Amino acid sequence: MINPPKMKAVGAYRYLPLSDPESLVDLYIEKPVPTGRDLLVEVKAISVNPADLSVRENHNYEGESPKILGWDVAGIVEQVGPECQLFKPGDEIFYAGSVARSGGNSEFHLVDERIAGNKPKSLDFAQAAALPLTSITAWEGLFDRLGISHNVEESQSILIIGAAGGVGSIATQLAKLAGLTVIGTASRPESIQWTKDHGADFTIDHNSPFAPQLKEIGFETVDYIFCLNDTVQHFANMADVIAPQGKICSIVPVNKSAWSGSLEMDLLFSKSVTLVWELMFTRSMYQTRDMIKQHDMLNQLAELIDKGKLKTTLTERLEPINAANLRLAHEKLETGRAIGKIVLENF
Ligand SMILES: NC(=O)c1ccc[n+]([C@@H]2O[C@H](COP(=O)([O-])OP(=O)(O)OC[C@H]3O[C@@H](n4cnc5c(N)ncnc54)[C@H](OP(=O)(O)O)[C@@H]3O)[C@@H](O)[C@H]2O)c1
Repeated sequence: MINPPKMKAVGAYRYLPLSDPESLVDLYIEKPVPTGRDLLVEVKAISVNPADLSVRENHNYEGESPKILGWDVAGIVEQVGPECQLFKPGDEIFYAGSVARSGGNSEFHLVDERIAGNKPKSLDFAQAAALPLTSITAWEGLFDRLGISHNVEESQSILIIGAAGGVGSIATQLAKLAGLTVIGTASRPESIQWTKDHGADFTIDHNSPFAPQLKEIGFETVDYIFCLNDTVQHFANMADVIAPQGKICSIVPVNKSAWSGSLEMDLLFSKSVTLVWELMFTRSMYQTRDMIKQHDMLNQLAELIDKGKLKTTLTERLEPINAANLRLAHEKLETGRAIGKIVLENF
């Protein structure tokens, strides 16, 4: 019998602190085969996200199979499933994939073509891998959930909480491009500078009350708030500064809060404020009828990058993709102080 082809990968057999070399290990596993609408992708670069930390910690490790993480990939289509219509072998693509499936920290990876997009031509693989998960989150949050127009006509304002992080760095650019006045929160000189460099008109500190800081820069209220960090910590402050009939979108659920307590929803009542959640894995996890919107979104994003209207959010490259470098990247992310995105390239 012929042995099936193998490939390199990085994964975890159980949850261990990152200081333990067994927390993420180098593996040699079976190369997958595409079926249906799946693409088999040769992975060139991957990025890390808080989702990796959360899945590594909370995955139900059962049996002998390791868990492969990684939900940001840039690579080349090697083979297509029999029902694929959007891509062909040789195409360069980027995508986040689905948290319900194995992640992309492997030499080859399967992804449904409806959630992959054409890699921006002007970026290399590492610069492209920095973008998909955070960009889909920002795009869906701003345009699908908050319902912001791509061409805001009158002067409207948005407060982006956690503006220097992975999601904030692209959300700030997208909000600015749509025509909003952007106020980003950042707490350190380097994150303040990064936030301004990515288009924020103003910055305030997320560790102090928002209202007096906003007043100082000329705002009584803001029309929209995009909360990219602890929703419980910031809830009362958000309720305080959101405009009557304004909208708040959060991407961080209450159970991820470092603060005790729950959301006092009545704080939003008298102003008739809308609170909406965004999870970028909803479309892929539930195979929603409109999941192909993420393909369209990534293609539009690539066009905006290639036209010079948006820039990559990559801040640091590590090479090669192996367990030691992945542990290093997870450690940096675990501090909660990341600026932009950390990317690993080449196996
Ligand atoms: N729902 C979704 O689809 C989705 C998608 C992506 C991410 N997420 C979640 O969204 C959060 C952000 O993700 P990310 O990738 O942007 O993370 P990240 O890159 O690790 O964010 C780091 C940034 O957070 C800022 N920060 C630290 N403490 C803060 C606080 N108390 N309040 C406000 N900002 C604070 C830091 O700014 P300073 O250094 O200036 O303090 C830093 O620049 C994570 O919890 C992640 O799990 C959800």
